[in-house]
Amino acid sequence: RQMVFRLSTGSSALDTLLGGGIESMSITEAFGEFRSGKTQIGLTLCVTAQLPKTQGGGEGKVAYIDTEGTFRPDRIAQIATRFQANPEEVLENILYARAYTVEHQFQLLTLIAAKMTEEPFSLLIVDSIMALFRVDYSGRGELSERQQVLGKMLSRIMKIAEQFNVAVYLTNQVMADPGGGASFVPDPKKPVGGHVLAHASTTRLYLRKGRGEQRVCKIFDSPCLPEAEATFQIGLGGVEE
Ligand code: GTP
Ligand code: MG
Repeated sequence: RQMVFRLSTGSSALDTLLGGGIESMSITEAFGEFRSGKTQIGLTLCVTAQLPKTQGGGEGKVAYIDTEGTFRPDRIAQIATRFQANPEEVLENILYARAYTVEHQFQLLTLIAAKMTEEPFSLLIVDSIMALFRVDYSGRGELSERQQVLGKMLSRIMKIAEQFNVAVYLTNQVMADPGGGASFVPDPKKPVGGHVLAHASTTRLYLRKGRGEQRVCKIFDSPCLPEAEATFQIGLGGVEE
């Protein structure tokens, strides 16, 4: 049996909160409002996943499913430089794919699993897991079907995590809360995806903005991790401090 490992997020405070980093053979989900740092954590993990295990890395390639078009190669290059890694090599080791529909997202997982039988990977990212579900199943009566298909997708993702000993990092959106009047204010503490996603995610991280480039992360609803917080920064080198 393969050894479980943990990937550094780039922030020692965040790694400590997580018990050493994000775990392989497991699903870690980060949710929070826009610009709370979900994508920046993913981009940083794209680099640390490739570092030696002695440096908090996973010594493997990365598969990245992008549903929002927010992957930034130039940003990866900056982050790689911070970790004294070769930016071109780091980028070459990322299997990147843009998904446009839920069906496409499924197909990409099949393709990724096939790649993982050929080469060592340490990380799978889906940024974000719910965006296409919300588009493809937007009708009132489609919620139960959406949740059923989501459940299938998450079990496929979990199978990939276990079969190939990779860490999985999912980002998620928060619910729009119909408050007073016609304005829909996002509720930063309510992830979408319902109990199906809640059940599938081993670790759920709630992110919020602090002062300036500071971000605060809290473990959400975990039976085995403390309800503590960690503060980190988003800087030139990605997730820092
Ligand atoms: P949504 O996907 O819109 O929901 O947001 P998100 O949670 O994915 O936010 P993201 O990770 O994109 O964080 C955006 C924040 O990261 C910005 O507000 C900036 O503070 C910071 N950031 C993004 N790009 C850079 C960069 O190139 N350099 C630096 N220093 N900070 C950056
Ligand atoms: Mg994002």
